[in-house]
Amino acid sequence: MARFSALVAFVALGAAVGVTAQEPNCARNYTVQLGDTCNSIAAAQNVPTLQLEEVNADKIDADCSNLALGEPLCLGIIGQDCNVTHVVASGDTCSSIAGAAGIKFSLLLTNNPNIDDNCDNIGIGEVLCTANTTIVQ
Ligand SMILES: *[C@@H]1O[C@H](CO)[C@@H](O)[C@H](O)[C@H]1NC(C)=O
Ligand SMILES: *[C@@H]1O[C@H](CO)[C@@H](O)[C@H](O)[C@H]1NC(C)=O
Ligand SMILES: *[C@@H]1O[C@H](CO)[C@@H](O)[C@H](O)[C@H]1NC(C)=O
Repeated sequence: MARFSALVAFVALGAAVGVTAQEPNCARNYTVQLGDTCNSIAAAQNVPTLQLEEVNADKIDADCSNLALGEPLCLGIIGQDCNVTHVVASGDTCSSIAGAAGIKFSLLLTNNPNIDDNCDNIGIGEVLCTANTTIVQ
């Protein structure tokens, strides 16, 4: 009986922590503000949209339509945090983005694994990683 109670307490604590805790290995913590979208957070905080969504995949749905006011998010994991970014504008191409950032086209694709090889699937308002070091292995 004592063992059973301890297990229940442990599970309950784990659930509570899961709802509220920030990641301990988080390089940058963030709290969701009124009016935030994934792209607006990404643009304001210099975090790639994909990174924001992947680091918080347990909280943010595929359309990023379930952000909750006051919700704690992690912007990047220590050692894998891209903080040099570009917000895609009308007319941008991967070549123009890489050129403006002074980085190789291939590095842009490496650090933004959601971009296809032809770079025909970037979206206006999306925030890309334009760091000059390899962040995504
Ligand atoms: C983010 O929050 C976690 C949990 O509170 C903490 O361990 C970590 O040090 C924080 N990171 C930063 C950069 O403040
Ligand atoms: C950006 O990230 C690099 C390396 O991860 C770090 O050294 C630098 O301090 C960061 N810059 C900002 C403004 O957070
Ligand atoms: C990026 O790195 C390459 C190779 O190290 C270097 O030639 C180039 O000047 C760097 N670009 C920027 C914007 O720092």
